[in-house]
Amino acid sequence: MIAQASPWHAHAFQRTAAQLAEPLAVPARMEWTTRPGQGPGADVLGPDLHGKRLLELGCGPGHNAAHLATRHDVHVTGVDLVGLQVRRARSHYGRLNNLTFVAGHALHYLHASDEQFDAVYSVFGAVGLVAPELLLAAIAQRLTPGRVLAFSVPHPQRGGRSPSGDDRPRRDHVTLPDRTWLPITRWEFSSSRWEKHLDHAGFRLTSAQEFHDSRMGHWPTTLLIRARKL
Ligand SMILES: C[S@@+](CC[C@H](N)C(=O)[O-])C[C@H]1O[C@@H](n2cnc3c(N)ncnc32)[C@H](O)[C@@H]1O
Repeated sequence: MIAQASPWHAHAFQRTAAQLAEPLAVPARMEWTTRPGQGPGADVLGPDLHGKRLLELGCGPGHNAAHLATRHDVHVTGVDLVGLQVRRARSHYGRLNNLTFVAGHALHYLHASDEQFDAVYSVFGAVGLVAPELLLAAIAQRLTPGRVLAFSVPHPQRGGRSPSGDDRPRRDHVTLPDRTWLPITRWEFSSSRWEKHLDHAGFRLTSAQEFHDSRMGHWPTTLLIRARKL
């Protein structure tokens, strides 16, 4: 029943039951990959973030948003589909300034908002989980020319898979804390297919980096894409 609401709801429900919703210390780094401590940090979003307005799509418990708001003095709005995640993010970091957590579908939030952001980002969040032709176009509306969109997604070649040969989503799954799997769909694009979609939405791809995680074999685990609004 819970899984039918959304696999992401079931995921948050189990996490919330298993972990205390308590104030947490602000993380020292921004994490983009499956391996904490590895890879770039907030610099991906630009050299001087001070005073900027950022939007995170699929913020989960809000660790990256809290880091950015506190260590880089930016205003971050974190949006997550699941109300329980937003509640969890608020219980961890709601005491901090410059941080707003909102419950809602990324696409609906972007369509309803008339705010302009200095950067939009997603870390294994809504980008890749929502039809790119809709989501990238909606993000483009909220960014002025020159501004950054950055997102990390599970690498399309993780575990020996191959990237989609077309623009359609594929079946994937969410692993719940109790180790059960729930099906989701995910757009599993190579960096060149992301580039094509970004182009179409009015972005120029500026970098595509892949990261490995020695705990998960020799295949790359994370694809990090950075683009600029034209
Ligand atoms: C794998 S978690 C990543 C959370 C967080 N970015 C992190 O790195 O810890 C994916 C998150 O995306 C959220 N999500 C999934 N689809 C979404 C959508 N359409 N709009 C907004 N959030 C979404 C889920 O609820 C979940 O919290």
